[in-house]
Amino acid sequence: MIANKVVIDLGALRHNFFEIKRLVGAEVRIVAVVKSDAYGHGLIPVARVLETAGADCFGVFELNEALELREAGCRLPILIMMGIAPEEASAVVENGLTAAVFQYGIAEKLSEAALKHGTIAPVHVKVDTGMTRLGVPAERTVDFVRLLQPLKGIRLEGVFSHLAQADMPDHPFTEEQIRRFSRVFEACKQLGVCTDAVHISNSGALLRGKGVSFGMVRPGILLYGSSPAEGWPAAASFKPVMTFRSRVIQVKKVPAGTSISYGHTYTTRTSAVIATVPVGYDDGYSRAFSNKGYMLVRGKRVPVVGRVCMNLTMLDVSSVKGVSAGDEVVIIGAQGRERITAEEIAKVAGTISYEIYCSIGKSNYRIYKDSEKTFQR
Ligand SMILES: Cc1ncc(COP(=O)(O)O)c(C=O)c1O
Repeated sequence: MIANKVVIDLGALRHNFFEIKRLVGAEVRIVAVVKSDAYGHGLIPVARVLETAGADCFGVFELNEALELREAGCRLPILIMMGIAPEEASAVVENGLTAAVFQYGIAEKLSEAALKHGTIAPVHVKVDTGMTRLGVPAERTVDFVRLLQPLKGIRLEGVFSHLAQADMPDHPFTEEQIRRFSRVFEACKQLGVCTDAVHISNSGALLRGKGVSFGMVRPGILLYGSSPAEGWPAAASFKPVMTFRSRVIQVKKVPAGTSISYGHTYTTRTSAVIATVPVGYDDGYSRAFSNKGYMLVRGKRVPVVGRVCMNLTMLDVSSVKGVSAGDEVVIIGAQGRERITAEEIAKVAGTISYEIYCSIGKSNYRIYKDSEKTFQR
């Protein structure tokens, strides 16, 4: 019996996609970010829903993810945001993929591969406007684009950048990055290239309408129903897509003074009822939840006591009547009137909902539901 279930609600995903559309306007195109197994929600089922809903492009991190999408029959443009290694150029061209480009040598390889295959490879130039991660520094981008212009076989379709502080509502550096990006865009217009796909807005930016006028946005976390950080009331209309449930596998009554789990970091002050749940750090439930986390049992919030183990966690269920083996436990989701969100547990663990989704989603058995249909993967 598999006690742990991650349920992915594809209906909620579709809802979130249409919410983004509503926010940015029907004419703004959407690069749906489905990298990292769609933030742990499952690349292929998520992509199928978004393609049908009207996404214009998928944003993945690396070539493998793009190939997986193509093998599953995805026909949309796919942007490989990390860029590619020289030896990957042929696969990119053969599969009609779009590479982020920020090195001349890679553009050359793509050009050669495209000429060999008698095709044209679209590329998006990646600009570093202040994230200091990937991309051509903003002030050097125009020279870089000029250098690429003579290359045959590639089409300078777009230009894009990534924001460093967009999770903070109204952070001034977001404006600064958009200013730097606008200058690059204006120069590209003069050159007559890279103007068909211009994008900088992630979820935080688009919630505030920042960078949306470039005509293309690149959201990730909002698709999955979380806000980029705390303090985003505008994100309230988005629905969490992932829930995580387990079952109690043993209940024991213990006297006062009983110490629990590795290191005996928790000792009961009074007699207590302890429930053991088969969820641990191997299931993406971090050790950081030791003596800090909460789960829901019989509609009540109960604390994690002692250290989270690799596969097991103990809860003090003394305040809940009649808990027994087999009872449902909610780690993320609702039960009765209570709800635990990924954002809430992320805060407890000192991280962000993104990491919670990635680690829980990838480590557990996923079930997909979509209105009446339920299927497994
Ligand atoms: C290059 C790039 N674009 C867009 C996104 C989407 O960001 P968010 O999930 O905050 O919308 C990410 C996510 O990390 C990213 O790395």
